[in-house]
Amino acid sequence: MAAPGSSSCSVQSCHRLLLVAFVALCSASSSSHGDRSPLSVVSRIAFGSCSNQSAPQPIWDAIVDFDPQVFVWLGDNIYGDNKRPFRVLGKERTIGPWKNVPRFFPSTEQEMRRRYQLAKSNPGYSKLRQTAQLLQVIGTWDDHDYGLNDAGKEFSGKNTSQRLLLDFLDEADDSPRRQQAGVYTSYLYGPKGKQVKVILLDTRYHRDPLSSDGTILGDSQWEWLEKELNGPESEITIIVSSIQVISNLSATTGPLFHTESWGRFPKERERLYKLIHDSKRSGIFFISGDVHFGEITRYDCGWQYPLYDITSSGLTQAIEKVVPPFFAFAVRAIAWLTPTTMRVSSVKCRYKSCTYAQPNFGAIQIDWDVVPQKIKVEVRGINGDPAIAVDILLSDLQPRNTNTLEGAWQHRRHCSLEIDLPWFWRHSFAFTFLALVSVLIIAFVLFAYTIVSVSKKFLRKFKID
Ligand SMILES: *[C@@H]1O[C@H](CO)[C@@H](O)[C@H](O)[C@H]1NC(C)=O
Ligand SMILES: *[C@@H]1O[C@H](CO)[C@@H](O)[C@H](O)[C@H]1NC(C)=O
Ligand SMILES: *[C@@H]1O[C@H](CO)[C@@H](O)[C@H](O)[C@H]1NC(C)=O
Repeated sequence: MAAPGSSSCSVQSCHRLLLVAFVALCSASSSSHGDRSPLSVVSRIAFGSCSNQSAPQPIWDAIVDFDPQVFVWLGDNIYGDNKRPFRVLGKERTIGPWKNVPRFFPSTEQEMRRRYQLAKSNPGYSKLRQTAQLLQVIGTWDDHDYGLNDAGKEFSGKNTSQRLLLDFLDEADDSPRRQQAGVYTSYLYGPKGKQVKVILLDTRYHRDPLSSDGTILGDSQWEWLEKELNGPESEITIIVSSIQVISNLSATTGPLFHTESWGRFPKERERLYKLIHDSKRSGIFFISGDVHFGEITRYDCGWQYPLYDITSSGLTQAIEKVVPPFFAFAVRAIAWLTPTTMRVSSVKCRYKSCTYAQPNFGAIQIDWDVVPQKIKVEVRGINGDPAIAVDILLSDLQPRNTNTLEGAWQHRRHCSLEIDLPWFWRHSFAFTFLALVSVLIIAFVLFAYTIVSVSKKFLRKFKID
């Protein structure tokens, strides 16, 4: 097992440990495991989010085939809360200004535990946990496994939820992560020169209400993150956020609907970019979940090198699954028509929209042996085929001297914020949606009218006969 980044283990003592472990492994002839030492080179990481514990989860087969060394849960690892039906009329109304009960409500501790057990005993997930190369399964949470849709620091069940998540992840009983307020932590993998640091953020425990432009991380977590980023270097640093960091979908899908993202907390996002900037750390990129589709976004003006955000969502919960198959094309058309300034479309995509709204997982492959070293990131579907893919050169994730204009041009494509798009264009999603709904309503009315007039004619004919 890899140790959390905070624990210390000198290279020599680790080597000695390794030697002992190696001898023990060799003498235990029954062992079929690969090299599970924290010092083995990590070159395959998988990640995923939004997994319904009660639904079939066929995607694990593709994840097992990918043979990851680390698997990262990005949140909504279970659906722990409950949803009342969509009801406009009646005693319990869950929608509209006249609604009298909240749409979502939390579960009891026993029920949460039961759902975690369902998730943990899923045959596909169990198989992943037994694969030979797997060093570790790690993870953070989002709202539904935190206990309540869109909840933040005000949620009263958060300490219980923290214990349940850490139990699910097999966190040691004496782990400091069980004592702190929130589930943030970090891990360091690989030998010197090929180190990968994974920083897991907690975007729930300390989060101020949406639209407050307050804090997402809270003081203690900010202090910790600053130390993490300014601490010992690593070749690659993956910052894991349950919600998207780069894309601000709400700016183009509002007022119809809003998603959560760092963009909803502009000051907090600026602070994150500045912290990264000031740390002068190279090799940073983000991974995120939450939105029920996959995409790769990139921001070129937050720091001297492009900041990528690879979003994979969800393992079972995906937008195209909740619409009738016939409308899947409409989902893609809307995704393609909705303006975005951050989505990277100059990559290998299965669909023109460069989004992927069927069940998916994220796959990161690091090629340490080519020059320059390369990170291949993909959003893969249920068969394991990549649906979106981009190659990132590690040499492109290095702080640049901003005085040299060379290179600056090609790195300034994804700069303008969604919110700064022309008004009409920015709301084209809403217009497309309204147009689509109007067409459907008109078609329905015409259809009903035709049926009525045809049956009237038929009845009249019947009477005459
Ligand atoms: C999870 O799956 C079950 C069984 O298919 C379904 O009844 C339930 O509504 C799903 N939950 C969510 C949050 O989609
Ligand atoms: C939750 O845990 C934190 C620290 O882990 C503690 O300070 C706080 O008092 C706890 N809250 C409740 C309601 O138990
Ligand atoms: C993101 O969009 C919301 C609108 O939903 C807006 O209030 C916010 O300022 C935007 N954030 C940024 C950083 O543009």
